[in-house]
Amino acid sequence: MAGVNIEIRENGPLRVTGPITITDKDGKEYTIPEGQWASLCRCGGSGNKPFCDSAHRDAGFEAESSAH
Ligand code: FES
Repeated sequence: MAGVNIEIRENGPLRVTGPITITDKDGKEYTIPEGQWASLCRCGGSGNKPFCDSAHRDAGFEAESSAH
């Protein structure tokens, strides 16, 4: 079984490759199976949080995308 991978997309979301379960404040779970991925918004502009809906592109989101 592969581990979780989190990829920092340049000026975009965090791409999380499963297996992973995301749980919201109400306990609703989103399961990402092994080998599949979800993009999590880090610009704050998505209309479908916690997932990215590409709003970062129109917003011109810029952020450090390298891990230090
Ligand atoms: S990072 Fe894509 S909408 Fe926020």
